[in-house]
Amino acid sequence: MLVSAASQHHWSQRWVFLLALVGATVGLGNIWKFPHLLVEQGGGAFLLVYLCCLLVLGAPMVMAELALGKSGGLSPVAAVRKIAMDSQASRFWVVLPLLSVLTGFIVFAFYSVVSGWLLSYFFAGSAGRFDGLGSQDLESHFSNLLDDPVALLIWHSAFVLLVVGVLLKGIRGLDHAVRVLMPVFFLLLVGFLLVAAWQGNIQRSLQLMLYFDASDITLQTWQLALGHAFFTLSLGMGALIAYGAYLPPSHNIGRSVIAVLLLDTLIGVLVGLVIYTLVFAAGLEVSRGPGLLFITLPFSFGNMAAGQWLLGGFFLLVTIVAWTSAVALLEPAVQVLNKRFAMGRSWSVGLVAIAVWLLGTVALVSFNQGQEWTLAGMTLFDLLDFLSAKVLLPITTLLLVLFVGWQVKSEVMRQALSTAGWLFNIWLVLIRFVVPTLLLIIIWSNIYSRF
Ligand code: TRP
Repeated sequence: MLVSAASQHHWSQRWVFLLALVGATVGLGNIWKFPHLLVEQGGGAFLLVYLCCLLVLGAPMVMAELALGKSGGLSPVAAVRKIAMDSQASRFWVVLPLLSVLTGFIVFAFYSVVSGWLLSYFFAGSAGRFDGLGSQDLESHFSNLLDDPVALLIWHSAFVLLVVGVLLKGIRGLDHAVRVLMPVFFLLLVGFLLVAAWQGNIQRSLQLMLYFDASDITLQTWQLALGHAFFTLSLGMGALIAYGAYLPPSHNIGRSVIAVLLLDTLIGVLVGLVIYTLVFAAGLEVSRGPGLLFITLPFSFGNMAAGQWLLGGFFLLVTIVAWTSAVALLEPAVQVLNKRFAMGRSWSVGLVAIAVWLLGTVALVSFNQGQEWTLAGMTLFDLLDFLSAKVLLPITTLLLVLFVGWQVKSEVMRQALSTAGWLFNIWLVLIRFVVPTLLLIIIWSNIYSRF
């Protein structure tokens, strides 16, 4: 038998772990934000800036989180506590993973509501409901969905159940889900690339996304690139710590990190190619965010031959992307309950699921009955987004970096990372000086853009 008793707590294979990381990092951001950033911010020139941010900020942070998880044991809180103790640092640092878990929670509520829309569009699209509809009809279909709290609640609940289904079985469930879902995702992506090449002009989209205009690069470009690098790598929410906890001690973290950075970027570019090519083939202009996914795309696909297949396939692809990210968003909280309160896995998953379900339910009312309930001009949904992405996330990450760089003994990190000496030295300089500075820039620009 391949699976030994010890490996029951580990990813079954190195490539499965890699796929899990790709699943956790490739999310809605890669689909509705990244391609648009490329188009708007200088194409290839933006890509270069962005790759710099990935290497300088992203890679060291991903390494730090995975290493914390790998050497700390089965929960982000336990990991930080153990490493703080090994380094004789204050126990206060345990607040950190708790804050990250809280952030992940809030982001999940947001993610789950939007993923509910995806599920609804998957079923409606593959049943042919959008075939031949005009853009007006599609706009009203979308706004009717948002106006209907019961429908939103049903889809949000269904998505929570999908995530619970994966989480219940612990690492075996995660491992299994990744083995099935990620290959389906890759097949769909390749399928869509072929359809795009056949139906439209891929070269035109490539030019649109990868033209090179260095004069478009401004300070704002750097801020956007930094912010996106940070979000797309799923940093600061305990997700990578939680996934790192299932790594065998011998795992070399450095190599996985490079693979994930490249794949995350490549997938963003490929998805952009598919979307733009097919939208242009239908004679439309591109937009971004929810409008792109829920109005422009159904319109383009719904008016093509075999539109219902295309729509079903596309929303399945996006649902998988959201699903594998959502699982990673909740795993840290489940681990904390599981380990800290010695609660069984099922109980932990159940409690976490009820809590996020409630939070999502409160959030989804922002689109209908609760549209008027605002604070500082934001609905509850926007407030959750603002609180998690702009406030909690940068602050907890800054603290995490300071902890790892300045509080943890470098010997402890050297062992946890188990990489070559020179690489460790570069990592240390980045994590001590460069990353905190960049994080301060992000925090500053978030506050600045708000007021
Ligand atoms: N990276 C995801 C995206 O691109 C979103 C995300 C942010 C996430 N933090 C996370 C996913 C933590 C899983 C876990 O959309």
